[in-house]
Amino acid sequence: MTPPASRSVRLTGWGRYAPSQVLTNADLERMVDTSDDWIVSRTGIRERRVAAAHESTASMGAVAGLRAIHTAGLRPDDIDVIILGTLTPDYWMPSTAALVKEAIGNTRASAFDVMAACSGFVYGYATATAYIQAGLAKHVLVIGSELLTRFLDFTDRGTCILFGDGAGAVVLSASEEPTSPVGIELTTEPQGAYMIWLPAGGSVAPPSTETIAKGQHKIRMEGRETYRFATRTLASTALAAVGKAGWTQDDVDLIVPHQANVRIIEAVAKGLDLPMERIYVNLDRYGNTSAASVPIALAEAVNEGRVKVGDRIVFVAFGAGFTSGAVALEWTADPARGRDADDAIRPESVHVRPPVDWDSVDPIPAALAEVLARPLPVDLDLSDVVPDEPAPAQPEPAAQPVSR
Ligand code: ACO
Repeated sequence: MTPPASRSVRLTGWGRYAPSQVLTNADLERMVDTSDDWIVSRTGIRERRVAAAHESTASMGAVAGLRAIHTAGLRPDDIDVIILGTLTPDYWMPSTAALVKEAIGNTRASAFDVMAACSGFVYGYATATAYIQAGLAKHVLVIGSELLTRFLDFTDRGTCILFGDGAGAVVLSASEEPTSPVGIELTTEPQGAYMIWLPAGGSVAPPSTETIAKGQHKIRMEGRETYRFATRTLASTALAAVGKAGWTQDDVDLIVPHQANVRIIEAVAKGLDLPMERIYVNLDRYGNTSAASVPIALAEAVNEGRVKVGDRIVFVAFGAGFTSGAVALEWTADPARGRDADDAIRPESVHVRPPVDWDSVDPIPAALAEVLARPLPVDLDLSDVVPDEPAPAQPEPAAQPVSR
């Protein structure tokens, strides 16, 4: 196919999926030495979602992807390319995007995963933009999907309180209408390589009984260093994308940042000299869902009425690598289009084909399964509600004559 000079790219669809099971800070208090106060004051997180045993990164990504396709007014087979950002794929191979392709009923698309940790969705978005601008695709589905709770060490209070599961997606489409230029900035700083990492399972440390015994298949993180990187980089990456779009930060209507820590987000607001009202935050409900966090936040911001046609929006993320990425774009789609996507696409109607000859395994970490199986008692003060038998009624004392 001969590519046209430069095709304009529009965001035409958006969707998200969050598993229904909730893990609160109070639940985590029963697993590690932490407190709701500490987690809320240091991170802003109150609860996160946990995928059920039958769910996977592909199944969540497929639901979010179908919702984005529905919002765009397309059919699954209209999609030419599926790009999925994740650090928690269903398998090392095939790609999770390939499983999503089958699950959504697409027969035509090429499909591949992008590994850029929490920046994976933004890296995928940049790739999709380039595909369309080069004339290689008309409609691209970009998904961020993560099932982090299966890769957490539930004895490490420094990491297990931060992360949750979920998926978000967008559809990017070629457009004949003139569209404002998209500003994109991507960075990678390999000196941060071992600041957030998952040591074993790759070719340097293939899985063995020893790697399992040492807990090397779980996420490790240097929290303070990661925090410093994030606060140093997020605002400058966002500014670079804003500059490439030809704007200044005063032109930005809404920033949709990676939802890692509200203190990091506040630092971005300060770095950009923008009020928090222009920044979307939902991490209190989901924690850090890595590559899924920006597209989940975007879909919720749009569906909640925070975005209107003509608004200038910036997505910005950072993650392991260290990577960071930002996209600055002018919103063109009717924001009302996404409101019925959750009802139109139900998770129970979306299936990822299981492998043959596979003995089923229970994927939920034992410590997590135990807490989720024993829900906390309802947190209400019941001390004055019929503690014993009600005391027998006493006769009213006789009224005394009032002396004057
Ligand atoms: N509950 C109670 N106390 C805790 C907890 C906890 N859950 N976790 C750590 N502490 C303790 C520490 O042990 C330490 O105690 P000490 O002073 O006795 O040594 C104290 O709290 C302070 O620890 P810090 O690590 O300095 O706490 P900080 O304020 O930096 O907050 C946090 C830690 C929340 C992890 C923060 O550093 C952070 O958000 N970092 C960025 C993490 C991040 O965003 N990661 C995602 C990257 S994206 C990706 O690609 C996956």
